Amino acid sequence: MAAQLSTVAKARSSAESLSSSDDTTDTDTPLSSPPNGTEEVDGMTVKMESLSHAQTSPQMRRRRASTTYASSSDEIKRLLGDGNGTKSLQKYCCGEGCCMLQKLPTHPEATGIPTPDNDAFRFLQLNLEGLSMDAELTQILDLPEPKISFGRLRRQSIIQKFPDEDEHEHDAEHVQVYPPEYMKPHPPYNIYNAPVYGARELTKPGAEKRTYHFDVDVTDYPEEGGVDFKVGGAVGVCPPNDPAMVEDILDRLGVPHFQRDKPVRLFTQGGKWPTIWGDEEARELVTTRREVLTWTVDIQSTAFVKGVFRLLAEHANDAKEKKILMYMSSAQGQAAFCDIRTGPHLTIQQLLNAFPSSRPPLEDLLSLLIQLMPRFYSLSNDPHVSSAREGLAGRRLIEIAVTIHETPAHSDTLRTGVGSGFLERIAKRFIKAEEAALDADPSVLPGVAGRKLGLQIPMFRGLMSNPLSREFASDGPMVLIGAGVGMAPFRGFILNRLKNANCANKIWLIQGIRDSMLDEIYRGELGAHEHDIKKVVQSRAKSPPPVAEGEGAADVATDSTGNAGTAKVESDTRSERKVAKYVQDEVRLQADIVWYVINAVDGRLFVCGSTQGMGEGVKEALIDVAMDKGKLDRETAKQFWDDKNAAGQYIAETW
Ligand SMILES: Cc1cc2nc3c(=O)[nH]c(=O)nc-3n(C[C@H](O)[C@H](O)[C@H](O)COP(=O)(O)OP(=O)(O)OC[C@H]3O[C@@H](n4cnc5c(N)ncnc54)[C@H](O)[C@@H]3O)c2cc1C
Ligand SMILES: NC(=O)c1ccc[n+]([C@@H]2O[C@H](COP(=O)([O-])OP(=O)(O)OC[C@H]3O[C@@H](n4cnc5c(N)ncnc54)[C@H](OP(=O)(O)O)[C@@H]3O)[C@@H](O)[C@H]2O)c1
Repeated sequence: MAAQLSTVAKARSSAESLSSSDDTTDTDTPLSSPPNGTEEVDGMTVKMESLSHAQTSPQMRRRRASTTYASSSDEIKRLLGDGNGTKSLQKYCCGEGCCMLQKLPTHPEATGIPTPDNDAFRFLQLNLEGLSMDAELTQILDLPEPKISFGRLRRQSIIQKFPDEDEHEHDAEHVQVYPPEYMKPHPPYNIYNAPVYGARELTKPGAEKRTYHFDVDVTDYPEEGGVDFKVGGAVGVCPPNDPAMVEDILDRLGVPHFQRDKPVRLFTQGGKWPTIWGDEEARELVTTRREVLTWTVDIQSTAFVKGVFRLLAEHANDAKEKKILMYMSSAQGQAAFCDIRTGPHLTIQQLLNAFPSSRPPLEDLLSLLIQLMPRFYSLSNDPHVSSAREGLAGRRLIEIAVTIHETPAHSDTLRTGVGSGFLERIAKRFIKAEEAALDADPSVLPGVAGRKLGLQIPMFRGLMSNPLSREFASDGPMVLIGAGVGMAPFRGFILNRLKNANCANKIWLIQGIRDSMLDEIYRGELGAHEHDIKKVVQSRAKSPPPVAEGEGAADVATDSTGNAGTAKVESDTRSERKVAKYVQDEVRLQADIVWYVINAVDGRLFVCGSTQGMGEGVKEALIDVAMDKGKLDRETAKQFWDDKNAAGQYIAETW
């Protein structure tokens, strides 16, 4: 089940990888990312599929419109293994056009093509070796057919066809806060704009990744089929794209200011877009250009299809830009295109800045982008416990912790992920208002100034029958293993157990962090027994000084204050000071507890964090524990955990 969840979650990541599968852990919640109906065949993706079918099908297979095997650069890198993606592709190229790679003839006297002189272009690091203005390019991708169009909205059509639109606000300010009604991540319900009740940073300046805590007010969240927020559940957040990025794209495309916020009719030819989870059908709806670009398309977190280059080529006025873009769409440029897919993470904004003479129509560009998907965030509280908090005056809160994803941008800066970046912008505004209020009046109550801003998070109930929430029990011993923000849901578990007084002997939390001075999130917020139940494993802390033989050598990690010396279970090798670097090291060192809990009738072991590395590392450590303590051979040990998984005792939710 753990493996299943990881796989399903991965395939349904925030618009990373597309799947046509309909199975979800919560029936009405989208985890897959329906594409914008494109039948685009890009050599890279097809190659991935053809490689995986190489034994059974010698023919090239066209990718189904709704299936992408690898659309993020990380995924592609994983499939291709270490090293240069292009080289790997060349090795497997069947020469039948699937890979399309064709070399340009080399002319020793050729001077090469002049390139656009801007940072955005240099950031692409395109390999244009052999390309000249007169190079012959073949198998240039056909210009993709636009799949959507805009039409004028007349007063008469509002009255007759869209009566609700008479009241609908579409100005830029409104659009940046409220998602369009046609987006339905969990039909038939709308997205709910939840007021932000509190926000604070959990990490300290200098932390490699910043993490923020949010209190979200769901007092007025509408009734939805009787399902409530649950400890261990995850809410869906529908983030808007960065407004500055949207504005710059509209500028780059030359969309006149008067058109940006003017209501228009949007026609689609089929598919779910832009509803996220609506029926597959052609649509006619009312929106604005800014609204569509803000809420419905992924402009930054996935690698682009080749059609985007072809479209830009078609509309480039500068001859050298046109040539380079055509090259990227041709058989000769396939290697460069593959490098782009596996190389720097690009945004549409960067691409338009790199080729400033190209101004394609917005609707043609939108046709080539995929749906912007909701992001999920685990509840870091028990909603019932938090709502009983003093001073809330009957408000109902859910809490989440969000780690900010960052990736290099062309302007020598880092840009944030869509969802975590949106939430960080909210948190920063809230925190700034709080600080200003405190400066002005040190007696001001926390939260008051922040709440006055009226900040909102567009969200929906999300996953409330996912493994963590489904298998959590209010009694029985538990081992909780979480790295980074993966620890967040376990705060909810512990707060729930605190209600029942006796949690000290029943919970063991192994928390993986980098450095206890910087990123030990929720330190001091786990109740009176925190020091007894928690082991902190620091991956970046300095090694302790060597210890002479015989000196107390049982401590393997540090406690929540960052001091060594609190491990309850002693390591087997007393003479050797072992320092756990990652949570899986600690799992091995705490083998007795792990083995005791998993063999208790109502014992459970939960794992949460990133799939890559940590999830796999913990799995291996658990196998080692079963081999060591249960005297099982490796295969039987694996089976042991599979059985525990099937029985709902070993639960891993990794991402
Ligand atoms: C059930 C569940 C619970 C979760 N709980 C939490 C939680 O409690 N707290 C939490 O912080 N997160 C949680 N997550 C993860 C969260 O949903 C988001 O995935 C995370 O915040 C990143 O989203 P983002 O929009 O900020 O980043 P995105 O914009 O989606 O970027 C994500 C990554 O994609 C890569 N990327 C970026 N741009 C490109 C590009 N142009 N081309 C290719 N690759 C690119 C980068 O590696 C980047 O880090 C959970 C996920 C699930 C499924
Ligand atoms: N319900 C869910 O599915 C859910 C809920 C919350 C969070 N998440 C996911 O959890 C992840 C947490 O991300 P984060 O950014 O906070 O932390 P992170 O980047 O995963 O790092 C957290 C800690 O894990 C360490 N680590 C790195 N490689 C490891 C490995 N191979 N084995 C074990 N530990 C390793 C890091 O050490 P070094 O960097 O020093 O190597 C660091 O100390 C995210 O991917 C998030 O989406 C999932």
